[in-house]
Amino acid sequence: MPTIVIVSPKGGAGKTTSALVLATQLALKAKVTIIDADPNHPVDTWMTGGNVPENLTVISDADENSIADRIDEAANLSPFVIVDLEGTASKMVLLAVSRADFVVIPTQGSELDAKQASVALEVIKQHEKMMRRVSPEFSLPHAVLLTRTSPSIRSRTLTYIRKNMMDSGIPVFDCELHERDAFKAMFSFRCALQDLPEEGVSGVKKAIANANAFASEVIQLLRNAEIK
Ligand SMILES: Nc1ncnc2c1ncn2[C@@H]1O[C@H](COP(=O)(O)OP(=O)(O)OP(=O)(O)O)[C@@H](O)[C@H]1O
Ligand SMILES: [Mg+2]
Repeated sequence: MPTIVIVSPKGGAGKTTSALVLATQLALKAKVTIIDADPNHPVDTWMTGGNVPENLTVISDADENSIADRIDEAANLSPFVIVDLEGTASKMVLLAVSRADFVVIPTQGSELDAKQASVALEVIKQHEKMMRRVSPEFSLPHAVLLTRTSPSIRSRTLTYIRKNMMDSGIPVFDCELHERDAFKAMFSFRCALQDLPEEGVSGVKKAIANANAFASEVIQLLRNAEIK
């Protein structure tokens, strides 16, 4: 059962937003567990709103000593496990990556942010290196997700960053998580995108379409990597 770990050492890269968008989207059709492994517990706070989709479970008691066990337990119970981490290169991050089937690296579209993504990519490379001692073919599927991008303007910087990454062999999601009020409003109203009030929050439908494209691409990438 796939465990998807969201990693970026950069604070505010969009990890928690991506985790929650993906989790609530997948929860429309399957059971999903989010492991809220950020000591600030943003997903746990979101959950206290009480509007948690039926299929979604939030686990927020994971620490360095228990994260690997928590992930394994959750993977036995839910078809999808999503791990949200804090924005540092901590031991928790290494442990979570060691349990991942797929890693999403959210990155805002600037050169400085792209540099931070390379720290996350290095963690993946190191893990692959270690695993290849026992399994020479081992690879950990992953992709960079460009976040908070404009839905209407294609900036040159963004085009350049995407091209640079792809030229360096770094997988990048075709879809981007656009800058939308609705993605912020999920946290204010403490509910899934689908449950946001349409009056007062702009672009809910477009955000749902964006979330759907993101979740579909994750499923496709898991299929391509033959992860079931
Ligand atoms: N696609 C988006 N559209 C609008 N706002 C966004 C989007 N993605 C993130 N944000 C906003 O940017 C801020 C940082 O996002 P988020 O908390 O998801 O990042 P993070 O990587 O989890 O941060 P941290 O490292 O502190 O855990 C939040 O205020 C969030 O609402
Ligand atoms: Mg976060």
